[in-house]
Amino acid sequence: MIVGSVSEDKNIEKRVAITPEIIKKYKSIGLDVNLCKNYASHLGIKDDEYISEGANILTIEEVLEKSNVIAQMGILNDENLNKLKQNQNLIGVINPYLNEAKLKEITKKKVNCFALELLPRITRAQSMDILSSQANLAGYKAVLDSFSYFQKAIPMMMTAAGTISAAKVLVVGAGVAGLQAIATAKRMGAIVFATDVRMASKEQVESLGGKFLIVEGSENLETEGGYAKETSDDFKKKQENLLKETLKKIDIVVCTALIPGKKAPIIINKDMIEVMQNGSVIYDLAASQGGNSELTVVNEIIENNGVKIMGEANILNKLPISASNLYAKNMFNFINNLFDKEKKIFNINLEDEIIEKTKVK
Ligand code: NAI
Repeated sequence: MIVGSVSEDKNIEKRVAITPEIIKKYKSIGLDVNLCKNYASHLGIKDDEYISEGANILTIEEVLEKSNVIAQMGILNDENLNKLKQNQNLIGVINPYLNEAKLKEITKKKVNCFALELLPRITRAQSMDILSSQANLAGYKAVLDSFSYFQKAIPMMMTAAGTISAAKVLVVGAGVAGLQAIATAKRMGAIVFATDVRMASKEQVESLGGKFLIVEGSENLETEGGYAKETSDDFKKKQENLLKETLKKIDIVVCTALIPGKKAPIIINKDMIEVMQNGSVIYDLAASQGGNSELTVVNEIIENNGVKIMGEANILNKLPISASNLYAKNMFNFINNLFDKEKKIFNINLEDEIIEKTKVK
């Protein structure tokens, strides 16, 4: 049985699903690996590194023809997608909501498609959890990027020439990305505030040294799965009042608030941006899901009233090697669970929650 992967459009996606170090893991469970030529040369990884670990380097057509599983970062382009045949398996962050029509076409041909973003957040799936591994890096990088655009120092510095006060950071949404953003900003000496609709995150924020801002009269806005629910108009108004007051003294805002399967909630509106100090920065990690700031423009840095608003669509393209290393491990763990080592087949066991929840119907 063979796992294959082909290059994606590097203008959109620089991460790869298979790194040289993961090949021996596939080999150890009896799987061969096929990759196309120059698979990760844009990351400085030569084909020879893959070959010396035991991978086969072939043409794109050959990889798609001969592999039982196609492991990708995003969905294949239309031309390659149409080459898949019955009983082949496609695995990746394939966005079943956005790609519904395409995926319907190929599932009709009995190609099995698995969307890793649909993995249940259960203990057994933690080693496959691409949302966590990637969000963690995104939270870290958002802080570094926003700090590099901020024109003042971050930590408090007491010098003979006088004292520089510490920068104040607000993290909106304290999930995986937000908690890493808090930890990174604290390590760099910032004073950190954070807010979330899930009260469970208060303790986590405080354990990292952040100050948690509670919206007065918070309802219980956490689903059973640990995600956020959409908020009521009354809650939004209270959150707006609290944040508007806070934003007057904040230098950098890192936005990470998401609601699974929905457009990101708008939390920082234009009026709130108007009260911010000149030179402040808003980094909107939710940009590609619609943005948490009303003024965010995807893939642009705009300026409003002296405040920079950054809307990077795929921040992980700026850390593609670390992101690929973690993603490749998540991918291997998913495939390892799918592969029946005794029968040497990919076993689509729909009684396994991990397989059932990720399989595109
Ligand atoms: P996410 O990416 O969907 O959302 C990010 C954060 O934004 C969440 O904390 C959410 O509560 C917050 N948010 C949403 N709407 C908001 C609003 N209007 N105002 C302020 N904040 C808002 O969530 P993420 O980071 O993927 O995970 C969140 C949950 O998943 C947590 O409960 C976490 O503990 C859990 N989790 C469980 C794992 C497991 O394997 N058991 C692994 C990773 C996360």
